[in-house]
Amino acid sequence: MITQAIIPLAGLGTRMLPLTKAVPKELWPMGSKSILEIILDECFDIGIKNIILVISSEKETIKELFKFKKKINNKIKNKADIFARVKKLEKYGKKIKFVYQNKPKGLGDAVLTCKNLINKSHFLLLLPDDIIVKKNCSKELLHIHKKRKCSVIALRNVKKKQVSRYGIVGFEKKIRMKISKMVEKPSIKKSLSNSAIIGRYILSKKIFKFLSSQNKGSLGEVQITDAINAMIKVEKVFGCKFKGKYLDCGTIDGYIKSFKYYNSI
Ligand code: UTP
Repeated sequence: MITQAIIPLAGLGTRMLPLTKAVPKELWPMGSKSILEIILDECFDIGIKNIILVISSEKETIKELFKFKKKINNKIKNKADIFARVKKLEKYGKKIKFVYQNKPKGLGDAVLTCKNLINKSHFLLLLPDDIIVKKNCSKELLHIHKKRKCSVIALRNVKKKQVSRYGIVGFEKKIRMKISKMVEKPSIKKSLSNSAIIGRYILSKKIFKFLSSQNKGSLGEVQITDAINAMIKVEKVFGCKFKGKYLDCGTIDGYIKSFKYYNSI
């Protein structure tokens, strides 16, 4: 049973500067919701009970979304739709814990800050740069996790010329969708396949052991890919080719395209 999710939000968002200096990209709108609200809906829709948001002191503003604000609530009491949305987020807030990663030492390091809060064998990890619509991607991962009792990673086929933008996985020959290796942003020549990692994972708690003992990468960052690669040697990890539509929200171009698409469905 997966009841906990981690959502790392402590990155600097350099690809979307200068706007991200003032407004964290996770609070940017996607239709009438924020990107973060869409990701939270995905979690709570599958029965997640507690969510850990990893933030930094520069991103305190994220907390405001969940606070009870009497003055505002009094003003919107008669506007049923908006009131319900505000109340929903207040309710979500009660199930959210904030932890701090004040130096952006990589995604792996952000996940590691949650080590002492994870109390079940597996947890869900969602990266808000990736929105998946039309079908709940976390639900698809959960389905495979229940069947295989192991870690599961969301995958999407990309064009050969795009592999160098993603983490790419290789598969074991004999067992369908069982991942044997992962490579971060490989050249076309060194790519193991055209299956790219998208920001949804169900991970075994054992990942913390590998994150703790990991040498920092070339940029001084702790990479989740390296830790999963080490874990694959002792734990099964399966891929999930999800059926929903992927929207990239990590770059300005991607965000604009995603916004247009989201509003058209
Ligand atoms: P990205 O690699 O997209 O980095 O992180 P970023 O800082 O968000 O954006 P760019 O690349 O500078 O434009 C993927 C996810 O991991 C989180 C980010 O907030 C994002 O949700 N992250 C990244 C952390 O929480 N801490 C980090 O040190 C790095």
